[in-house]
Amino acid sequence: MIRKAVLPVAGLGTRCLPASKAIPKEMITIVDKPVIQYVVEEAVAAGIKEIVLVTHSSKGAIEDHFDKHFELETTLEAKGKQELLEELRNIIPDDVKIISVRQPEALGLGHAVSCARPVIGDDEPFAVLLPDVLVDGHGLAQNDLAGMMKAYEDSGQSQIMVENVPEEMTHKYGIVALKGDTPEAGHSAPMASVVEKPAAGEAPSTLAVIGRYLLPGSIFALLEKTQPGAGGEIQLTDAIDTLIAREGVQAFRMQGETYDCGHQLGYLEAILVFAKRHPKFGEGFQNLMQRYAVEE
Ligand code: G1P
Repeated sequence: MIRKAVLPVAGLGTRCLPASKAIPKEMITIVDKPVIQYVVEEAVAAGIKEIVLVTHSSKGAIEDHFDKHFELETTLEAKGKQELLEELRNIIPDDVKIISVRQPEALGLGHAVSCARPVIGDDEPFAVLLPDVLVDGHGLAQNDLAGMMKAYEDSGQSQIMVENVPEEMTHKYGIVALKGDTPEAGHSAPMASVVEKPAAGEAPSTLAVIGRYLLPGSIFALLEKTQPGAGGEIQLTDAIDTLIAREGVQAFRMQGETYDCGHQLGYLEAILVFAKRHPKFGEGFQNLMQRYAVEE
């Protein structure tokens, strides 16, 4: 069973400026929760019990968000604001631990993941969730990360979440080549290779890596030997490409929807989707939508 997840949150979020100047981009709000909370909830729903944040000195607000805030809780209790108090106390369940390690220099995603090596160790499989991407499992019996966990248990092979993107977008992603046909959504298929941000016209397919990975502890030794690749950075994709040759890796085709919160329109779309079905604000938000849809 995979119980640990690595969330690389050290990035400075230049694509989200000016919003991310003084707060971490992961703390920008989608309706009433910061984006990082949705990602942690997704991991917890799939059975993760230890979240390893790979973070940076400027991003302490993320750790604070998952920590107990004694003063605030005492104040809410004294004022009888029980509902709000419960909500704060349940940001993460009691049996889930948040651990943080630092990435001292921005040397790439592969380097960020390798910073978690002392916590994860080389003998245990683990998950990686990139917090820029919101994966929405609304309406599914289990979320896609849980589906990947099941595929990992059944096959014993690493799982990389993928979905089709328009051809003109392939240069922004890790792109996967499969050994055979593309699996149906919710299923996995063996990968032949993966390439980080291929140049226009050179992508082997339109299947993009979406930012959810289940990897073996042996990836750390491969990352240690991985040379800087696309953008001069140590790429997780390059270590996974080596892993494919060593022990096989599968691509898991996701069922849910994704929202790329690494840029403003992605945030806005996520806000629309999550606000429309929010138990407290959904109705009011739909009224607002109607009102503004007809106004110039
Ligand atoms: C990272 C990964 C890339 C993946 C993408 C998903 O790139 O390196 O393989 O497709 O996340 O969002 P980034 O968006 O951090 O440049």
